[in-house]
Amino acid sequence: MKDKFKATALAHPNLAFIKYWGKKDEQLNLPLNGSISVNLSNLLTTTTVEFSKLLPEDQIKINGQENKKENLKVVKHLDLIRKIAGVKWRARVVSENNFPKASGLASSASGFAALTLAATAALKLKLSERKLTILARLGSGSACRSIPAGFVEWKKGEESETSYAYSIFPAHHWQLSIMALILKSEEKKISSSDGHRLAQTSPFFKTRLKNIDHRLFLLKSYLKKRDFLNFGKMVEEEALEMHAIMLTSRPSLIYWEPKTIEVIKFIQKIRTDGLPIFLTIDAGAYPFLICEKKNEVAVLKWIKKIEGIKKIIINYPSEGAKLIDNHLF
Ligand code: DP6
Repeated sequence: MKDKFKATALAHPNLAFIKYWGKKDEQLNLPLNGSISVNLSNLLTTTTVEFSKLLPEDQIKINGQENKKENLKVVKHLDLIRKIAGVKWRARVVSENNFPKASGLASSASGFAALTLAATAALKLKLSERKLTILARLGSGSACRSIPAGFVEWKKGEESETSYAYSIFPAHHWQLSIMALILKSEEKKISSSDGHRLAQTSPFFKTRLKNIDHRLFLLKSYLKKRDFLNFGKMVEEEALEMHAIMLTSRPSLIYWEPKTIEVIKFIQKIRTDGLPIFLTIDAGAYPFLICEKKNEVAVLKWIKKIEGIKKIIINYPSEGAKLIDNHLF
């Protein structure tokens, strides 16, 4: 019998059109509402996992670094997968992102999606896509949405087995351009895991939950029809609503930087001038601009006028997590 088992997976972060904000169960990452997202083609996490009989303990390196707090989460996830497979071997994990970590670019989503796929494949577990999404969710909620391809819905479910993600449309369903505007590379100070805990302290959170199933239903119909104006309007409203919940939490949570607000106002202005473009923002300061691919060149011309943007990463809807042969070690 071999004394080493290795696999490598690649996963993209996903951008939520309808957000996951607030948990019903913190241990299981069960959300208080369903959410919808798309995978982002040019942002990428690659993770190699090797289980070995010879290792005394897990060795984890993310972007070349060993971060204690992060590694604890990874070990906990590996323990879960070891338990399912019935093995005790320790693992070496090397993971690389092609973008700044913990900056609102959802590295935990692609990170736990790639880790789940690589670790289960290394241990030869044959899991359905649904089971993989459930397992990835236990590492980080939004990670479940980075497993299936293209446009993805995460069903909130009642318990762990019914809270899973699936593809509603393949990546080629709609040629959208999704531009991540990198304003600065500082790490955000409050993790989204801590932020989720505050959601229910906002007096407006109940109203949000009351309306969200209808919003999910409408967004799916706009996606289906590729109705950009209604789709974009709803996506932007949804992001501003989530940030309104954050702002009115107790204590208040403000992820935005002055530049973020400048971009919001700029986008609203060029839209009034006739350019169909909308934005969304996750638990960070970076705005994501969304337009149809046919308008990408016109949009870029405008965006380049905004001062203080370090980088623009253009993404298209993309495939889900997959196994690859190029191991990182
Ligand atoms: C604002 O999935 O990072 O990006 O489950 O605690 O790991 P944990 O939280 P996480 O939350 C993501 C929050 C969000 C919205 C979204 O992606 O839906």
